[in-house]
Amino acid sequence: MTTLDINGSAARVDAAADTPLLWVLRDELQLTGTKYGCGQGLCGACTVHLAGQPVRSCITPLAAAVGKKIVTIEGIGQGRAAQAVLESWKRLDVVQCGYCQPGQIMGAVALLEKNPKPSDADIDAAMGGNLCRCGTYVRIRAAIHAAAQALA
Ligand code: FES
Ligand code: FES
Repeated sequence: MTTLDINGSAARVDAAADTPLLWVLRDELQLTGTKYGCGQGLCGACTVHLAGQPVRSCITPLAAAVGKKIVTIEGIGQGRAAQAVLESWKRLDVVQCGYCQPGQIMGAVALLEKNPKPSDADIDAAMGGNLCRCGTYVRIRAAIHAAAQALA
């Protein structure tokens, strides 16, 4: 048994140390907001925060998450940056099919927590690894700028 710190609570999980964090979240803890896309660290659908940094949970072994704060899309609602992102995402109607959006939101919140006034280039650099097959990139960028304005 391993104890993880997820969304502010302790969670006991029974998985091998090399199990990808994504499967622990989805299969053991039923935190299915974090999505499986490529499974190879290439699409960003599985992004969670580990010790405040956005990571690809599909290529992060359980062992790397022990003892660190894990935040998933289910627990992202706290904090000013998260509130601003969720609000601007709704107001600008960013979501299309929605599949990539938990990962996009995790990426956007991590960006704004580090850089509350990102330029277009900053956004492209931070979000470039989060793919959206529906092509919502223009709205994502606009919503990040809107969230940044709300935080100013
Ligand atoms: S599912 Fe993890 S990066 Fe694509
Ligand atoms: S909204 Fe459909 S994949 Fe991004």
